[in-house]
Amino acid sequence: MSHDVKNIHSLWPLNIGDFQNDNHPQIKEELLNFFELYEKKLPDGNSQLRDKDHVGNHNLYQSNYDLHNEDSEILKKLFHFIAKSVLDVSKITNQKFIDKLNEEEKKYKVNINESWFIRYNKGGIVYPHHHDGFSWSCVYYVQVGADASIQNGSTYFIRPYNATSKNDFGSKYLREDTHLFTAKEGRLLVWPSFLYHGSKPYSGDKERVIISANLTVNLRD
Ligand SMILES: [Fe+2]
Repeated sequence: MSHDVKNIHSLWPLNIGDFQNDNHPQIKEELLNFFELYEKKLPDGNSQLRDKDHVGNHNLYQSNYDLHNEDSEILKKLFHFIAKSVLDVSKITNQKFIDKLNEEEKKYKVNINESWFIRYNKGGIVYPHHHDGFSWSCVYYVQVGADASIQNGSTYFIRPYNATSKNDFGSKYLREDTHLFTAKEGRLLVWPSFLYHGSKPYSGDKERVIISANLTVNLRD
């Protein structure tokens, strides 16, 4: 009698893509210059943050949600890298559906629905939240000091499953109620938009600057 696993059905897989843009050192200064000019033109930033009742973010500057529509070659190139990365994660996560497609149906269109940048002041944070109504979300670290760590300026994700009362080894994979990623220049994290996340305060010499986006992926007609 054989006890080999006949199949593992990976239902609702929760994948977080982790990428590094090797080209980042060549584009960093130009991105920061662009953001500096942007802030000068729009000193109050995103109108959502000017709402006195808004408690989602603290001690930071945030742009409007249409950064991908700005007339900038460097941003266009970066959004191309982001869209490609999101497509990679989306394809891996949807592999069992892709397997059912004909070759000519395997053509994809990635839409950037919203994108913005955030410049954190010292100790600035984003509280836990999710991005409703999209497929994939991401963060790209434009600038952060070498002193960034799990405790300093990291991005955290909160387990979307109910807590388990089991403390046995078999449930170990459920015990982690948050998972943290250290911010690093040129690093891109991609996650499903429903996943709750936030950022730990960063107190370093450099200002923490990130780009974030909400995307959807469709099959092309
Ligand atoms: Fe977010």
